Amino acid sequence: MPNGALMIESSRLAVLLARSDDLPGRQLAEDLSLPALEQVDSERAELYLCRDALGHLHVEDAIEGTRLQFDFSEPSFLYRLQRVQHEALVRAVRVRGEPEIHVIDATAGLGQDAFLLAAAGFRVTMIERSALVHVMLQDALQRAAEHELALLRDVVSRTRLCRGDSVTLLPELEPADVVYLDPMFPERRKSARVRKHMYLLQRLLHAEAGEHEGLLAVARSRARRKVVVKRPRNAPPLDGERPTSRLEGRSNRFDVHAV
Ligand SMILES: C[S@@+](CC[C@H](N)C(=O)[O-])C[C@H]1O[C@@H](n2cnc3c(N)ncnc32)[C@H](O)[C@@H]1O
Repeated sequence: MPNGALMIESSRLAVLLARSDDLPGRQLAEDLSLPALEQVDSERAELYLCRDALGHLHVEDAIEGTRLQFDFSEPSFLYRLQRVQHEALVRAVRVRGEPEIHVIDATAGLGQDAFLLAAAGFRVTMIERSALVHVMLQDALQRAAEHELALLRDVVSRTRLCRGDSVTLLPELEPADVVYLDPMFPERRKSARVRKHMYLLQRLLHAEAGEHEGLLAVARSRARRKVVVKRPRNAPPLDGERPTSRLEGRSNRFDVHAV
């Protein structure tokens, strides 16, 4: 894989420059090892990483017209943030009697789960290994930090984002009370159950078999209290390891491994 853990399907993705002298755009393309194009060229790419007039990042699918931007201020997500104590994820991660625990989300992705955990009052360190996802998440966190809603600014102040592979990075970080894992995309095909932006994200990343190899073991060694793993409802437990307890979410399940 280029750039260590960079998992972009690079033949399909390019950075779309705003102008020929768009130096930040060219730098971004260089950082992500992607081609920099001045205009859409369907022979060279289908997906384009672009900056809007305010400098914010999004990915566009030139053929389907879909757009992916990580955005913590979407109304449906704000609704969840305001009722966060009801989230199965929060109930699975919570440690009784300790409201301010430190959680490491070792598979940050779009950052939604990490954001929910920070909204519940936990301190959250996120780790993401894909350079593309990392840069988009960083952009979304920056927007949240500057947002007019105090709730978003407050939540983001409890988060920290690291770039790297958790299998190697976790042992270098201070142990946390809880390590949270959501390593896999269960389905890669488009279906009603996979929301549009998730599908686009899935196309950007290789959902490789074995991508979670070693994660559970290293998470266990760095968690003081427990490891929580998000799984599709009917999937076997991660690495076949029987959890201590389970909590059913709306469309997923959370396996809790006490340590
Ligand atoms: C299903 S997504 C996580 C979604 C996330 N829970 C959310 O709420 O948005 C999985 C993410 O984990 C990342 N990932 C997988 N294995 C990893 C590892 N060993 N270290 C760091 N990130 C990893 C992938 O790049 C992907 O972005």
